[in-house]
Amino acid sequence: MARIVTNLWKNWLFKESFLPEYCNPLYDDSDFEQIQLPHTVKEVPYNYFDETAYQMLSCYRRHFSVPAEAQNSRIFLDFDGVMCAAEVWVNGYAAGSHKGGYTPFSIEITHLVHFGGSDNTVTVAVDSRERTDIPPFGFAVDYLTYGGIYRDVSLRIVPQCFIQSVYAKPDKILEKQKMLAVDIELNNCANGGTPDNADQTQQHQITVTLLDYRHKKKAEYVRNIFVSEAVQTVSVVLENLIGIALWSLEKPALYIVEVTLRTNDSAETDSVSTTIGFRTAAFTPDGFFLNGKRLVLRGLNRHQSFPYIGYAMPKRVQERDAEILKQELGVNFVRTSHYPQSPFFLNRCDELGLLVFEETPGWQHIGDEEWQAVSCQEIREMILRDRNHPSIVLWGVRINESDDCSGFYRETNRIAHELDPSRQTGGVRCKENSEFLEDVYTMNDFMYGSHAPGAHHMRILRPQREVTGLDSLVPYLVTEFAGHIYPTKRFDQEERLVEHACRHAAVHNAAALDPHKCGAIGWCAFDYNTHANFGSGDRICYHGVMDMFRMPKFAAAVYASQQPASVQPVMEPLTRYTIGERAIGGIAPLMICTNCDKVRIRLGENDLGYFYPAFDRYPGLPHPPIVIENIETAWGQNWTDAVFTGFYQEVVCIERQFVPNPVPTQLVLAADAPVLSAVIPDAVRCTVRLLDQAGNELPYSTEVIKITIKGAAQLIGDADLALIGGVRAFWIKALGQTGTVHVTVSSARFKSNTVKIKIR
Ligand code: GAL
Repeated sequence: MARIVTNLWKNWLFKESFLPEYCNPLYDDSDFEQIQLPHTVKEVPYNYFDETAYQMLSCYRRHFSVPAEAQNSRIFLDFDGVMCAAEVWVNGYAAGSHKGGYTPFSIEITHLVHFGGSDNTVTVAVDSRERTDIPPFGFAVDYLTYGGIYRDVSLRIVPQCFIQSVYAKPDKILEKQKMLAVDIELNNCANGGTPDNADQTQQHQITVTLLDYRHKKKAEYVRNIFVSEAVQTVSVVLENLIGIALWSLEKPALYIVEVTLRTNDSAETDSVSTTIGFRTAAFTPDGFFLNGKRLVLRGLNRHQSFPYIGYAMPKRVQERDAEILKQELGVNFVRTSHYPQSPFFLNRCDELGLLVFEETPGWQHIGDEEWQAVSCQEIREMILRDRNHPSIVLWGVRINESDDCSGFYRETNRIAHELDPSRQTGGVRCKENSEFLEDVYTMNDFMYGSHAPGAHHMRILRPQREVTGLDSLVPYLVTEFAGHIYPTKRFDQEERLVEHACRHAAVHNAAALDPHKCGAIGWCAFDYNTHANFGSGDRICYHGVMDMFRMPKFAAAVYASQQPASVQPVMEPLTRYTIGERAIGGIAPLMICTNCDKVRIRLGENDLGYFYPAFDRYPGLPHPPIVIENIETAWGQNWTDAVFTGFYQEVVCIERQFVPNPVPTQLVLAADAPVLSAVIPDAVRCTVRLLDQAGNELPYSTEVIKITIKGAAQLIGDADLALIGGVRAFWIKALGQTGTVHVTVSSARFKSNTVKIKIR
């Protein structure tokens, strides 16, 4: 029987406790809650909650069948992510366990299942307590880790001898005739035991095919092999590959490597495919080079959490974050702070052309030997899962901001280089002169505003030699800045939002101007829920350039405006345009984040003329903001309409208007996607914005709204809400049935607004 993979996302049973009898297949589980994956053990409020609420032992159960034809196959359960430890029983027998909530694990259950119609029961004990034997725990952590089976689970049926992994390494990438080395690991060791019952007699034929993204064959290699070992690696090289496009940020060309195993009589027994891209990526003392060309890295850190359900978001929502980063924020780099993130997110980064720095779980603390062993295992699992992604250009093999720990970090670097010699390693630190065991010195530089010894000027970033204390220059990357040194809420006072934006602009400008920095990654993309000892006391760190709903703050425009206007014209005057919001009133100095060539401003009848990007102040930015020191709008003056018009190549490409007397005029409801899936876990964000006569948000509105959902979808979070800073968003998840969902938002002042979402 050939490979069959079934996503087991429906029909799980859940209980907020765990007792040994839950493992008994005959246990009466009728009082368990019916749930679907991805799942969080406990939904939390938007803010102000007790983060110990989700820290518990809980139980997931599911009944499943294995077809009779699978008698001679091998059966696995694949878990993509269970936070933070799992023990698995099948039909009452212990089947396996796993520590660590961010990496996948597989459990062979061949010897435990009943074949044919009869029922099998899997029981998973999930521990979502902050266990000090598992990274990142043991000290404080500035983020929440939630709990549950929050990624997919699959039932995998494979032949006795099957393809365990495929590692495809492009080579001679910048040459006309490229090369691809493929290591295929075959598993022929039934039941995970000794190779006693290994299928030694059969000769196999292995075919490696390189296809383009339209499934057109580019090259093929066929070879006969004799599998004699329990786990055997077959290495294949495809040479003289022509007509292969490079993977780049603008055109991220992807290819598919398909590996097929056949028996002598040429019946296909197993097949696995993986997506790859041909690109070179090198961090050097003189900057970062993609495909041999210098690229200034301009990035943001991403936490994978969402309001209410924490980590438990399906494919579409994970992909959407990558789209927001690439298309709305225009960054070229993202760091998966501080752990391996969803495969769906990474796949989308591959497709979009968004570079990734992926790092191992951890935060400041290094535990004992057992803890370090779990950490090393997590690095292995991360790299084995992700080493084919062209988007990933750096492995983080040091616990974020931890102290030196020579032995441990020699080992993490060794593991990374052994499993993937093609990528460099980084180790994010915050202390100067720390031991440099990685390939890239990755530093969190929060020194903005400080003074160098004896200097009068305020510093933006430290020069690398001051940080590294090394005699020579090394590849150097700034991995965090801003964050806790300037927390900013979306609904903060205008001057704070502007200063927040200025800091992001200043740091990226400074990083780009230093020939010995590869770039900088801001802290961070999205606000996130956190522990009581961090953030603003309400369990939120307001460090994002967007809020938790992915709604932009002013600083988001600094990033968005760095894309070419030909891709997406951006022109965001950083003002609410009100007379008395700033100290002393008015809107000066006015910063306009834009990628336009020039912007014309009219205030009422008064044409102020054209204004141009401040290349003198921000020579390191592709698109510096416009900065207007004096603009005649002050307290007590006649306040008029304002019109900002952006020009690109002498043509008007974008316009914004502001009114002097904003009143709520429309409540706009929109869904990120019109169609959801009934066959895989799916969810979508809906946004609500209260707008004035000119279409601008009303940033201090707390209008109360009511959400109602009709159809086969469920609202995540509360149905009765107040707008936060004039906007709000919520997610709805599909329940696995087809049909039409009506999402309605109403408020006392506005007639209700409905969007229809199809589920297919
Ligand atoms: C860093 C840390 C991040 C976050 C940030 C806030 O020290 O690595 O996880 O806490 O500070 O600015």
